[in-house]
Amino acid sequence: MTPIQDAVEIAPGTHWIGALDPGLRAFDIILKTANGTTYNSYCVRGKNSVAVIDTVKESHADEFFTRLEQVARYDEISTIVLNHLEPDHSGALPELMRRAPQAKLYISPKAQLMLKALVRNNEMDFNIVQTGDTVDLGERTLHFFSTPFLHWPDTQCTLVEEQNILFSGDIFGCHFCDARLFNDRVGDFRFSFEYYYSHIMRPFREHVLEALALLEPLTLKIIAPAHGPILREAPRSYVQRYRQLASPLLNNEIGIENKSLLVFYISSYGNTAQMAQAVGEGAETIPGVRVSLYDLQAGGDLPFVDLIEEADGLAFGSPTINGDAVKPVWDLLSSLASIKVSNKLGAAFGSYGWSGEAINMIEDRLRGLKLRVPIKGVRARLIPTVEELEQCRDLGKQLAQHLTGKIEHRVISMSELLSSSHV
Ligand code: FEO
Repeated sequence: MTPIQDAVEIAPGTHWIGALDPGLRAFDIILKTANGTTYNSYCVRGKNSVAVIDTVKESHADEFFTRLEQVARYDEISTIVLNHLEPDHSGALPELMRRAPQAKLYISPKAQLMLKALVRNNEMDFNIVQTGDTVDLGERTLHFFSTPFLHWPDTQCTLVEEQNILFSGDIFGCHFCDARLFNDRVGDFRFSFEYYYSHIMRPFREHVLEALALLEPLTLKIIAPAHGPILREAPRSYVQRYRQLASPLLNNEIGIENKSLLVFYISSYGNTAQMAQAVGEGAETIPGVRVSLYDLQAGGDLPFVDLIEEADGLAFGSPTINGDAVKPVWDLLSSLASIKVSNKLGAAFGSYGWSGEAINMIEDRLRGLKLRVPIKGVRARLIPTVEELEQCRDLGKQLAQHLTGKIEHRVISMSELLSSSHV
């Protein structure tokens, strides 16, 4: 594969002018990029003027300007659109605005504060656009769609109406660098597409569905994302795939009317396991709640994340060992950042030898993830007593009552919180 040097026409008068970063092996610290990535930006020529859609990471600005200069003069540029302000797309913006000072910048409403924080230029002028706003370039019309939280609050998409090209930002993108650029020419990038969705978009599933409601009715000839291959062959299939990925993975597993409570536990001597059973028994006394118990000793976290994404309530049982909850519990809790868990119901319980910090630590983590934790967790020193198992049953029962609306969510005062905190 010979690296491309020139701007690449993707439709009459519309060019890819982005940059290739084949050597990148990690993105945003956590994402593996075995195939590197591309920073896609585009130039749209209208009859009267020219628009640039997104820029590139600052380190790759030279590539971007070289390609831009092949297809437009700076004094022709009337319009700069930033669909997303993350530095991999805004890095070359200050220099572009310096070279094309007459150009107007178009960003989403939520991008204003980010622009100031990222570009550190209070003088920079910009226009706010929302769904339905347009910019006329002369026989080329840019039509904006507000698609926030894909995956930052500022994200938007831009359609060239006359060419049915959607500049989609990160959505429908992936980290896959291949100089052949187009989806019908590059290597097999399906894994990268799915990996990108699951690590970048999945936590914002509800926003993906909102965006799809806006974008699905469009006639799409080309989807031109901000990373990875340009989707010119069967573009709608990628939209359909997003619909599938954003839909619940586990259909028809529980009755539609049922709430789902998952109880995860791990146990050294069977004590926390006994408590988990009791939590489950208590929850099952309330109709309308499907209770499931899982022993983390025997399970990896991946299938559990799918279950948790669809669940309404989560209870975690861990012994306290060396003043901490145990690693399998933390592993599962740390994986929850990849899905939306806010507002689910959470609780903790467990057996301990002499201190019992695990319960508070788990509860703190659950609150940090924005779960509701309205019920005090249950701790039992070593082998749980009959009374302590009854407390576990009551914990399960209360969780189920919260899930079914039999106990209303209430705000706990600070004094109540202090009096009930563990010592
Ligand atoms: Fe490709 Fe969210 O930046």
